[in-house]
Amino acid sequence: MGRDIKAIIKEMTLEEKAGMCSGKDFWRLKSVERLGIPEVMVSDGPHGLRKQAETGDHLGINDSIEAVCFPTACATACSFDRELLKEMGTAIGNECQAENLSVILGPAVNIKRSPLCGRNFEYFSEDPYLAGQMASAHIQGVQSQGVGTSLKHFAANNQEYRRMTCSSEVSKQALREIYLAAFETPVKEAQPKTVMCSYNKINGTFASEDPWLLTEVLRKEWGFEGYVVSDWGAVNDRVEGLKAGLELEMPSSGGTNDKKIVEAVKNGTLSEDVLDRAVERILQVIFDFVDHRKNAVWDREKDHSLAQKIEEESAVLLKNEGILPLCPEKKTAFIGLFAKKPRYQGGGSSHIHSYKVASALEEARKFADVVYAQGYDVKEDKREDALVKEAVEAARGSDYAVIFAGLPDSFESEGYDRSHMRLPDCQNALIEEVLNVQPNTVVVLHNGSPVEMPWADRVKGILEMYLGGQAVGAAAVNLLYGHSNPCGKLAETIPFHLEDNPSHLNFPGDGKTVHYQEGIYVGYRYYDKKNMPVRYPFGYGLSYTTFAYKNLRLDRETMKDTDTLTVTLTVENTGDRPGKEIVELYVSSPNQSVRPVRELKHFAKVFLQPGQEKDVTMTLDKRSFAQYSEELHDWYVPTGVYQIQIGRSSRDLVLEAPVTVESTAVLAMEIDANTTVGDLMRNPKTSSFLQTQLKQIQETLGGEEKKEESDAAKEAVTDEMNQAMMDSMPLRAFRSFNGMTNEALEELMEALRKLG
Ligand code: BGC
Repeated sequence: MGRDIKAIIKEMTLEEKAGMCSGKDFWRLKSVERLGIPEVMVSDGPHGLRKQAETGDHLGINDSIEAVCFPTACATACSFDRELLKEMGTAIGNECQAENLSVILGPAVNIKRSPLCGRNFEYFSEDPYLAGQMASAHIQGVQSQGVGTSLKHFAANNQEYRRMTCSSEVSKQALREIYLAAFETPVKEAQPKTVMCSYNKINGTFASEDPWLLTEVLRKEWGFEGYVVSDWGAVNDRVEGLKAGLELEMPSSGGTNDKKIVEAVKNGTLSEDVLDRAVERILQVIFDFVDHRKNAVWDREKDHSLAQKIEEESAVLLKNEGILPLCPEKKTAFIGLFAKKPRYQGGGSSHIHSYKVASALEEARKFADVVYAQGYDVKEDKREDALVKEAVEAARGSDYAVIFAGLPDSFESEGYDRSHMRLPDCQNALIEEVLNVQPNTVVVLHNGSPVEMPWADRVKGILEMYLGGQAVGAAAVNLLYGHSNPCGKLAETIPFHLEDNPSHLNFPGDGKTVHYQEGIYVGYRYYDKKNMPVRYPFGYGLSYTTFAYKNLRLDRETMKDTDTLTVTLTVENTGDRPGKEIVELYVSSPNQSVRPVRELKHFAKVFLQPGQEKDVTMTLDKRSFAQYSEELHDWYVPTGVYQIQIGRSSRDLVLEAPVTVESTAVLAMEIDANTTVGDLMRNPKTSSFLQTQLKQIQETLGGEEKKEESDAAKEAVTDEMNQAMMDSMPLRAFRSFNGMTNEALEELMEALRKLG
């Protein structure tokens, strides 16, 4: 329906316009009935609906409608499956239509900087490419149903500690390459209807009033068309926020900030055009929803089954020493409270009121010989002797033990960070005691973020379910008994110890600031650069079948950075079960002194029957090779030979091929007395001129006759040393070593400037 939004705005009073820029209450926007502006509602997300009635809150305290809890982002990211995320988004979008929700808040793409962030379960990955791809697919799915999303929390909100006031101190390069990149792709590819700015400050400025972030980058560079909404309560100075590009304040400010806006327009400190533009953006999204209303029907059973399928495609098999899949006829002890009552979602604003929850115990008992022992309690991290004894007996009397372990709610949540990376001590102790009597033991994990696994070498199998949504119990059983074949891979590194993590020395900061000292070396970018042993690397995951990779082909050997590169390889299922394999493509830069060893730049998931092989094709473009240059304020591809690496994980590379990429960037070089000979020789515009000059300088100025060198002198100065000295020599050194006059030096610089 063509609507003249500008005409509607012309009819609005100043007060109505100011009012449109904040919520009516926790979840609803204001209406202006006389102008046909309807009241619309938004709701949390991201992995299901948290639609609340009148008594709203942003921490999941009050009840919401019964809904379906899909697997959380920490799990779904491990699917590396764009289509699957789209399917999940589509189902959620349909639920929103059925519940008359105009926007569902999420997905959340903040980078997992530390395993301790209490909200990591809601975030996808430590890698911005993967996070961005997953978020794009989720958004495309939801928005295909005419419902908006809210990409959050923009930006550099990577911890819960003092999240409302702390300043994330991050270099521009790390922001661009890591923290903003996860938002950039979804904005450009999927155009979320809204973006939610975060609570924190970035380099001293609140995200909610940062014109660089909200206008320069988000709108001007990336082309964002929707509206920016504040995280609930993130507004510091409303008028500054509006000027910076924050259109909607949520929840309501009780009218006090509306008055501020009116006053600011009246006293001339805020242009009414800025207000009109904000209202226009908000109304556009409201009407986009209203004009795409559907008579949707919501089938909870169907969505529960989808939640199960998604979790089966996301769980990661970390270890399998010939124990899985289990045999249903053999007696198996399911140990641990989570076997009966799984932990499947995190606490806080994303908490779903699930209409039902599948328990692994109940599901397995439908067809397998299973006994149960609780093993531990979650109320307190305390060893309960009777529970341990019962568990040990059950394990001893069975063929296998499957221990369902993980983090209790109190260990991780929105609002606070974890203080360590361990499981509860009582669970670690239980696992060791069970292992003492039953070597055929598998651990199934329910956790939103990695845990240390001191028992990993002793158990025969580990299945990481993450927080897998309300159908997690059924999914776990299908995977354990081989009704489904595991096909997820880790979206984050699992280090041996918390202390190994690159942010460890600077997390969570002193409360006022947190310094992202590790720069771009986040997650595997750090562990791989340090060649540090890790428990399980990024991108790692097993299957019940096996895959072979062969025949890597690049469609060109050399390219300009403006060209695209098509990469093809063949994958074969060499095992005896159908299965899906995630193929990971990494790019390794020639600039190793300042770059990570490799970075994920593409991936594909391929389904293969036993013996079947398929070609997988992936296309790379400039950004796949680029780094962010703070000097140029732009993306830049240094000329050189890049390696295209295909891996089963970031540590297990199977194929590699080189491609030479030539930069098309016109680098304006600033030349002064401290510019080095090396830099000038590498610049194609100045190199040949300087070459000639160097000869002359040697001949005329410092060119005293070459004396016969003694052997000792020859040994003291190698060619390599000479070259290195020359490379790093600033132009002014000609004055010191070759007797060049200041006038001649000026002339030389002037001539070089004309060229460079
Ligand atoms: C969270 C957001 C959430 C909002 C509304 C905030 O506390 O940070 O992610 O969408 O509340 O519940």
